[in-house]
Order: sequence, then C-alpha cells, then structure tokens
Amino acid sequence: MAKTRQQFLCNKCGSMHPKWMGKCPDCGAWDALQPYTAPAHDARKAAIIGTSDIATGADAMPISRIEQDQIARYESGIGEFDRVLGGGVVPGSATLIGGDPGIGKSTLLLQAAGKLAATTGRPVLYVTSEESARQTAMRARRLEISDDRLLILAETNVQRITHQIRSVDPCVAIIDSIQMIYKPDIPAAPGSVTQLRECCMELVYLAKSSAAAIMFVGHVTKEGTLAGPKLVEHIVDTVAYFEGDRFHTHRILRCMKNRFGSTSEVGLFEMTGGGLREVTDPGSLFVESHGGNPPSGSILTAATSGTRVLLLEVQALTASSVIGAAKRKTSGVSSDRVAMIIAVLERRCGLKLAAEDVFVNIAGGVKVIEPAIDLAIALAIASAHLNRPLPSSTLAVGELGLGGELRSIGQLEQRIREAARMGVKHALVPRGSPLGDFGAIEVVPVRRLSEAMQKL
Ligand code: TYD
Ligand code: MG
Repeated sequence: MAKTRQQFLCNKCGSMHPKWMGKCPDCGAWDALQPYTAPAHDARKAAIIGTSDIATGADAMPISRIEQDQIARYESGIGEFDRVLGGGVVPGSATLIGGDPGIGKSTLLLQAAGKLAATTGRPVLYVTSEESARQTAMRARRLEISDDRLLILAETNVQRITHQIRSVDPCVAIIDSIQMIYKPDIPAAPGSVTQLRECCMELVYLAKSSAAAIMFVGHVTKEGTLAGPKLVEHIVDTVAYFEGDRFHTHRILRCMKNRFGSTSEVGLFEMTGGGLREVTDPGSLFVESHGGNPPSGSILTAATSGTRVLLLEVQALTASSVIGAAKRKTSGVSSDRVAMIIAVLERRCGLKLAAEDVFVNIAGGVKVIEPAIDLAIALAIASAHLNRPLPSSTLAVGELGLGGELRSIGQLEQRIREAARMGVKHALVPRGSPLGDFGAIEVVPVRRLSEAMQKL
C-alpha cells in the first residue's frame, strides 16, 4: 500500500504543497495553507463505482463505437435557469452554484427543484444541510411548491446522503450547501478544505456512475474558516455564480464553466416576495429614468451576454483631489480598463484628469468585461469632467485603442436594434461597420474619440 504523506492545500486557489508556508506561492494568499491528507483514491473510487479489479475496468474504445444516444436534459421550465446550464440539467453531471450568503441560492434551487419534479415526473432530492426540513418546507410553501415528488432531506453526513440518493434514485439531487456536509471518517472539521474536497469527490463519482445529476450550492467566502467554492470548480462539469446587488432586486446567474454548453450565457431574475421571477425581457431594467434630463456623466451603452443584449447606463463622476493621490474607483467595470481610458482621454483629447478622483459605475450592479463599452465610459468621464450633460437618449458603443481610435465590435446590429426597440434616439458607433437601416434611431459612425466628443 502506498504511503500517505501529509500535504498542504491552499484554501484560496486549491494548489497543493509539500510543506507549510505562511504565503501560498501560487496565489499569494496569506495563511491559507491547511493540512491535507489524500485518502487512497483508487480504493475509494473502486468502492463507489465497483471496479475493484484492474481486469474488470473499462477498455479503450474507438470513438465511433461509443454509444451516443442523445441524452435528454432535464428541463426545469425556468427558461433563464435552463439557458445558463446550456438547455437544462445533463443527467449524471455535477454543477456548482456559488454566490454570496443571502443572495438567493436556496430560493433559486428550491424553485428549480419543484419545477424539475413536475416536468420530469421523477423524484428530486433536495438535501438541506443548513436549514431544518421544516424550515425548507415552510419556504417551499411560500414559494407555492407542493409537488410530492420533491423530497427534502435534512442531513449533513455524506455517507447517509449517498445512501439516500441510491435508494430514492432522483433525477437531480441538490446539496445545499457543500460547506456544511462532512464525512465522519476524515479527521477534519466540516467546511475545511479536506472535507469539502472529499465530500464533493464522493458525490461527483456517484453522479458519474448513476444517472442522477448533482447540484452543489457553495457560499463564496471572503476570509474565515470555510473553504470557498473555487476549490471544487475543477471537479464539477458546470460552474455558475449567482450574483447581484443586495440593494437591488435583480439577480444574475452567470455561467463560468460548462462542459455541455456555452459559458457566455446569463440568466436574469428578480427577487420578489414570492421568490425569484425570471426576467425574459431585460429591456430598460438597468437604465435609470432621468425624466429626459440626464445629469452630466451619464450615457447609455449596450453590452452583450451570450445571445442577449443588455441596455446599460454608464455613470461617471469626477471630483477634485490631491495631485498624485487621485482615486480611480469603479463598480461593474475593471479599474485597469478605466485607467487606460483615462490615459487616452488625457493624451489624445487633452483632458486634465491627474488631479481628479474618477468614479465609474454601471447602474444596477451589472458587471461588464467586454471592451465594447469603452466609448461610453470615455464619454461619461469627459461629460462629468466638463460638467456638460450629454444629449438624452444617446447610446455609445465601441472599443477604444490607445491612439484614441475606435475599433469595430461584434454584434453591432443587435445592439443598435435593441437600443432602437427601447426608444433610444441616437447611437454613436465605430465607423467602418456595414450597417443596414434601423428606422427611428439615428446612427452616427465615428472614427476617433475626439470626433465623438465634438459630435456630442
Ligand atoms: P436565500 O435563498 O436564503 O439565500 P442563500 O441561500 O443564497 O443564502 O435568500 C435569502 C434572501 O432572499 C432573504 O434575504 C430574503 C429573500 N427572499 C425574498 O425576498 N423572497 C422570497 O420569497 C424568499 C424565499 C427569499
Ligand atoms: Mg441558503
């Protein structure tokens, strides 16, 4: 038998190290390494899947001979939820839904579980390790879920959970949350790195060897004793994060990894008194109404997420600051990108921003990573700096180059069409993109940032 050696696992990035260090050499986190003893993997896997003998394992096969019966996905009927998973839950898959505590993960999954039980007609097991069965039932009643094919199990011991999954044979088993379950024969506290890994591995093996899809709920942790969901991202097939602003009612389910679909999809929800409601038409959800008189530093833009276009409002504010100590604070966009845009504004358009604090915000708590909103950010900052409001009902899209030139972007037509549908009057777009006729919206092609500023 192989000798098991004590190793140390970083609970931030999941890297393994032979000796303890104060700082993780891979991700640089301090005081994040924890002792980790890997159990004998093959023996454990064999016990679960039942291939104890090397000779009885699977043989290599030509790709065309592998059965490819189109596995039907389990669709919940909650369109926004199914869309993020790539069209429904894949049988035998493992999914992780992460998010901040209190954002609505339990609500989302309980609603999905109820719908899945109704649409598939098969049992769905909801394992609650944080709340009691009675509390979950109370919540289910409030959400108007009463299908008896939804089974609730209040349990934290992973061995009893796997036993129940085998005996109930559900189409989907939901574990809410992974940080609270434990395996009794591992000498580590629930929520520790070792427990988290081992419990998840065991459940993922179970999913692969049966047809039950497993969905984990994981709390994103800032500091503290609970190991974060990042650690199990590579074990599962699909990772989605449930995000949103506590102070707003809408929530976004964003896919980060998907072995069975696209990762660019997002699902939009609204938290109401009766649970989460899907938002199929975001329309002007993220745009604040200024009654036709927007303040300076505000402009519309259109960002894409997957197959959908979101109409957003970029807001900027500048305030005088101490030279050399100017702050650049952003929310919803990368501060590096904003720093670059400020540099372009200074050098190519002659704005003096070195002695100004600059704040940039995407209204509604949405996060955007695509550079297509560069032009809108630049115009918002310029408008705030010059204290001149931009014309109302104006949209700007385009990627900004370091020379102050505008580059064309993808899905331009869809963006303009969505803006036109929402009643936007003017759209500034990069010149050179072939454009059709958009009816009521005036499309203004521009080549450079300075030209866009003049036009406005
Ligand atoms: P919850 O699903 O418990 O969050 P998580 O599992 O991510 O920790 O949701 C918590 C919040 O959702 C809570 O603050 C109240 C709100 N909520 C509603 O607004 N309406 C509802 O119908 C429900 C069930 C919850
Ligand atoms: Mg919860």
